[in-house]
Amino acid sequence: MAATLMSLPAHFPALKAIPADLKSALSSEIIALGFVEVENADASAEKEFKLVGSTLLLKSIAETFGIDLIDELKFFTPSGKAGESFELPISAPDAKSDRLLLVGLGDQSIAALRAAGATIGRKVKGKSQSIATFCATTDSHVTAHAISATMGAYLWNLKSGPKPLKPTIYLSISTLALKRALAVSAAVWRARDLVHTPANIKTPAWVAANAKLVAKERNISIKILAGKELAQFGGLSAVGNSSRKSPPRFIEITYAPKGSSNWPHVVLVGKGITFDTGGYSLKRPYDIMMAMKTDMAGAAAVLCVVSALPELAPRVRVTALLMCAENAVSGTAQRPSDVITHFGGTTTEVLDTDAEGRLVLADGLAYADLKLKPDYLIDIATLTGAATLSLGKQYAAMYSRDDKLAATFYELGDKSGDRVWRMPLVDEYTDCLESEIADQKNIGGKSGYGAGSVTAALFLEKFVGNRKWVHFDIAGTGRSEVDAGENPKGGTGFGVRLLTTWISSL
Ligand code: BES
Ligand code: MN
Ligand code: ZN
Repeated sequence: MAATLMSLPAHFPALKAIPADLKSALSSEIIALGFVEVENADASAEKEFKLVGSTLLLKSIAETFGIDLIDELKFFTPSGKAGESFELPISAPDAKSDRLLLVGLGDQSIAALRAAGATIGRKVKGKSQSIATFCATTDSHVTAHAISATMGAYLWNLKSGPKPLKPTIYLSISTLALKRALAVSAAVWRARDLVHTPANIKTPAWVAANAKLVAKERNISIKILAGKELAQFGGLSAVGNSSRKSPPRFIEITYAPKGSSNWPHVVLVGKGITFDTGGYSLKRPYDIMMAMKTDMAGAAAVLCVVSALPELAPRVRVTALLMCAENAVSGTAQRPSDVITHFGGTTTEVLDTDAEGRLVLADGLAYADLKLKPDYLIDIATLTGAATLSLGKQYAAMYSRDDKLAATFYELGDKSGDRVWRMPLVDEYTDCLESEIADQKNIGGKSGYGAGSVTAALFLEKFVGNRKWVHFDIAGTGRSEVDAGENPKGGTGFGVRLLTTWISSL
């Protein structure tokens, strides 16, 4: 299958700005209005609700369709939770609108407006319908709302039948905010497309072809290394040479517009394992292997972050390194007990071939530190099941020695919707990575420390020199097991919102 990363993914919704007035509302098939619970000192009293937004607009909608909005809403006995919704048929002469969607806005926080956005996107997913939402009012809320609406409308499949249709989402939003929302949500869609694509199609060479397309369409530079050119990348080669059909690729894509040489330089390193069987340390039970086409979610995120930068135009240079390899079982696969040499010379004793992510990341981090001299070095990887054990699927694990940077990311996680929780780099645990024959082992083994996500982070830290470094373990957040809210079942595009928000804030 050919490369798929176009400027706008197929079926991506049309996002359009409209004024918050009656005429605009009536030209959309569905009108979405937000509601909130009215605070009542008497907790035993019946819940009361009010609609949100321009009083004039609400009044004229009620008059046009001859309905009492609050009465209608009461009939459904809402809970008040963000994202719940109730639909009623409406009709009026000269109005295109035939449905009203009343959407719960909870506490009207940015998270609540995201939940409402996802509900609105889901309403029109795969359909050619139009929906106009008046739920959000401030610029930052409406941007988040718009991004979540497109995320809720996401769908992906390789069915041969009729293709899904393209909805239109109208928002009352400023031109600048709309541009931002479009850039970010298209990047989330692209990342999801990459993660959803199965591994028989998604070889490292295919990922490289997509990255080339991203670079070409946006006039940004790209370097791809393969075969003998990877000789110094001992981790990437050891893992990736397990597959003769899908050999490894190192992909370096750089956003550095003219005149940017004095701008801060961010390097993003993404784990790009296109399929993780575990290698000879085979994944067992086998059903946990099924999800492992998503083991390149980090690489997808960093590529798609770069894809959005020409539109977001931050005054930051950004290089993304995609460490792409398949972790297969074959006669050329590495053996448990092999010793490999990473970029820069550090050696690793490979005791578990399923701890492969850290091997490919080590090359990328060392390359970034030694060759690119970044001001910030960030990696993002579906690295350990242990990260999911500790934090579940709503927060990614974050590791850094830099308190300020970690605090910033925590805050921007909440703001962007890609939430992260800081975990400690526990120095006492490093001794479990000591090897008798190499600089480090790739697993803690029977140390009894547990803390698999922490020890993985400690392993990576050996490769970051003195850089300001942050590691995100997205094993839990990179993939959703359920089709609900913002996320489809499968790739979530986690990290795109967080990293674009952070880069734009530098
Ligand atoms: N890709 C996996 C981690 C993973 C697990 C991601 C579940 C998403 C969902 C990684 O390569 C891996 O196998 N990690 C091992 C490390 C262990 C062998 C030290 C793990 O977490 O079990
Ligand atoms: Mn693995
Ligand atoms: Zn893996």
